[in-house]
Amino acid sequence: MEYGSLGNSGIKISKIALGTWGLGGGSVWSDGDSDVRGTRRLLDVCLENGINYIDTAPVYGTGVSEELLGAALEGRRHDFILQTKCSLNWRGEGGNFHYERDGYTVNNDTRAAAVRRDVEDSLKRLRTDYIDSIIVHYVCGSFPVAETVGALEELIKEGKIRAYGLSNSLPRDLDEYMDVSEARHGVSVVQEFFSILSPFHGRNYFDVCKKHNVTFQTYGVLEEGFLTSPEFMERQFKKTDIRSRLPWSAEDKKLGLRRAFEIWKDLCNEHGCSFSQLVESWALSQFDNMSLLVGMRRPETVADTAKCIGIKLSKDELALMENAVKGIQVEVLDK
Ligand SMILES: NC(=O)c1ccc[n+]([C@@H]2O[C@H](COP(=O)([O-])OP(=O)(O)OC[C@H]3O[C@@H](n4cnc5c(N)ncnc54)[C@H](OP(=O)(O)O)[C@@H]3O)[C@@H](O)[C@H]2O)c1
Repeated sequence: MEYGSLGNSGIKISKIALGTWGLGGGSVWSDGDSDVRGTRRLLDVCLENGINYIDTAPVYGTGVSEELLGAALEGRRHDFILQTKCSLNWRGEGGNFHYERDGYTVNNDTRAAAVRRDVEDSLKRLRTDYIDSIIVHYVCGSFPVAETVGALEELIKEGKIRAYGLSNSLPRDLDEYMDVSEARHGVSVVQEFFSILSPFHGRNYFDVCKKHNVTFQTYGVLEEGFLTSPEFMERQFKKTDIRSRLPWSAEDKKLGLRRAFEIWKDLCNEHGCSFSQLVESWALSQFDNMSLLVGMRRPETVADTAKCIGIKLSKDELALMENAVKGIQVEVLDK
């Protein structure tokens, strides 16, 4: 494994991070429920492979992902860098309507009181007294940034969090968060959709991340499984499932992706790697200060993913890979 620093926080993170949206289950990841035993095993295998960085959020299964992690982390909390999120809550205390799912109404609220309450709730579910990194899940623009930053900086002072970041944001949001006078520590990480099929938003962000020494963390680098194999595209998902809402099951996209897999197959053979490792290696090559966040529920997936670090693709190979999907890439994804 390779390690880096989370922005300018000094927190040591593995290049690969474990994404746990899928652990939350529910109608949006409808493969079946995860349990504490399986989650413990998942974390064991993360440590065996040098992965110390975990990402979760209160809304992943409306508390379920955090609760499973809380139980699985007992006795070894300090072995991990734990990141969760704030702003999306289902407490019914106002904010902007965000979505309704599985009987819960989720609002987006970045005001100071909501941020503080989110952190307190997460600390309980995660069974810990500190969170390493808190990400503002949806930067919404309707509440003053100074208030959000003020609350996050206070939480650092109190020792409840160590660093903070943004998600579903734009480069100008990062500039704005960094400009707030209370921002003594500032943003350490931005977490944004980024894959070989949706690279443009991330690319617009890299220079601004560099300017502020902020880590760029990918999400959906495997497009929720669509980039793992040609067979994956043939799977059927419930209408509520995230994977049925993505563009990749449309016939024209499927056709383009099948052709790309044909081209990528030779590269996989040359490098002795899986499709997942190949596209992950492509992603890592795009920016130095990159954290590769991958959703994983199965131990074997973790072991496979960890190996992407050793693959080094040449400039020509990287170009060949991206040219293969040029016709089906998209600008914006709503996950
Ligand atoms: N900030 C946001 O708004 C936001 C939005 C979306 C996601 N996220 C975060 O980003 C994380 C990653 O995104 P994601 O989970 O949506 O999608 P993803 O990482 O693109 O894909 C996850 C899927 O790929 C499979 N997979 C992973 N590695 C594999 C491998 N080596 N071989 C075969 N299959 C493999 C996983 O299988 P198994 O699960 O079966 O192991 C899972 O089904 C989330 O878990 C979450 O923490 C954040």
